[in-house]
Amino acid sequence: MSSPELVPGLAGIPAAESSVSFIDGQAGVLEYRGYPIEDLSAHSTFEEVAWLLLYGELPTSDELASFEADLGRLRVLPPALVKMVQAFPATGHPMQALQASLAALGMVSPKVDLRDAASKDEAARRVIAVTALPVALFERVRAGKEYVAPRADLSTAANFLWCLDGEEPAEIASKTLDCALILHAEHTMNASTFACRVVASTENDPYTSCSGAVGALFGPLHGGANERVLNQLSTIDGVDAVESWYEAKAESKSKVMGFGHRVYKTKDPRAKNLQVLAVKLFEELGSTPKYDVALKLEEVVTAKLGGRGIYPNVDFFSGLVYEKLGLNTDVFTPIFAMARVAGYCAHWLEQHEDNKLFRPAQIYVGERERSYAPISER
Ligand code: SDX
Repeated sequence: MSSPELVPGLAGIPAAESSVSFIDGQAGVLEYRGYPIEDLSAHSTFEEVAWLLLYGELPTSDELASFEADLGRLRVLPPALVKMVQAFPATGHPMQALQASLAALGMVSPKVDLRDAASKDEAARRVIAVTALPVALFERVRAGKEYVAPRADLSTAANFLWCLDGEEPAEIASKTLDCALILHAEHTMNASTFACRVVASTENDPYTSCSGAVGALFGPLHGGANERVLNQLSTIDGVDAVESWYEAKAESKSKVMGFGHRVYKTKDPRAKNLQVLAVKLFEELGSTPKYDVALKLEEVVTAKLGGRGIYPNVDFFSGLVYEKLGLNTDVFTPIFAMARVAGYCAHWLEQHEDNKLFRPAQIYVGERERSYAPISER
């Protein structure tokens, strides 16, 4: 049998069978458990989508009410974790604070029995309920502010803004953020979900599996792109400077953040939805010159690279939405994470339905059977 060819980045290589979500990269289709993302972002809530991802069906009103009550009950940052986050160095990034906090959450939570559905459920719900809390607290710590305890009576989105600002958010802010959480909740076998499944496959709990996933998400080629998109737009001195800015990028062979995708070879459907969200926000709260620059950048990059399937991805417009909500740039990726933990937990559950330890092969290209030389002879 000939040895299998190396496929860099496992591009296009199936790592698992999954029924959580589906993408058609050519047609720009994304479905969560068969439901098109456009319908979910228009009619659903993050909590309803989280239930859908975890259990495969849209909840009844009783199921949703009890799930929301459960998330409210579990939405607690234990005192040991409050102290831990308050002790983190202010020079850290909120994603580093989040990765550490998710691992630490396992230290103060009941041990998960992977053979017990109720035990796995409780742990998955705790991750979804808690993830936003260390992010909000670390932001306040870095601003020299006191801890704001979470509220069980608010949605995930509204509670995050409450914990961040200590004030109940405006309806438009919590609804916009809720929609952004829906759009970021799940996306098949992306790098961080794959990382989650690899850690899960060693029979780990969701705290450790999601902590590993957050580490992968932090990278600039993945979830870290959204904050770099905004920084990138800030360096372009107006619409008239976009062409020359792009030429310099292309010249230096550096990638334009917020464009391109391993699977989508057309405009990411989530980018389209986030663009609509951004425009609605600008109508309500006033536009931003960065949006005009972003539109021009989309026009220029699509003209140059569209033929190679390089179009705006989910990260291109999300930062403009978050900035308009008054959120700091380095909180953008943690917001991605507080949404995506719903998808991670769905994949964690799915991995444990029929687990097989991930242990891929390699193609060895090094030397063989060498003789050891004492240091005096080297
Ligand atoms: C996310 O996988 C997921 O589902 C991820 C995600 C999710 O929801 O989980 O959708 C979220 O991570 C979105 C992507 C965010 N990242 C960025 O915006 C960073 C910029 N994008 C690129 O780094 C890149 O497009 C990737 C990493 C996203 C995808 O790259 P691929 O499929 O691995 O392709 P590649 O890097 O091998 O590039 C192929 C060619 C190269 O040119 P050549 O060397 O062949 O001449 O396309 C070029 C690349 O230089 N290219 C770009 C580009 N993206 C690819 N050129 C300029 N700007 C870009 N953005």
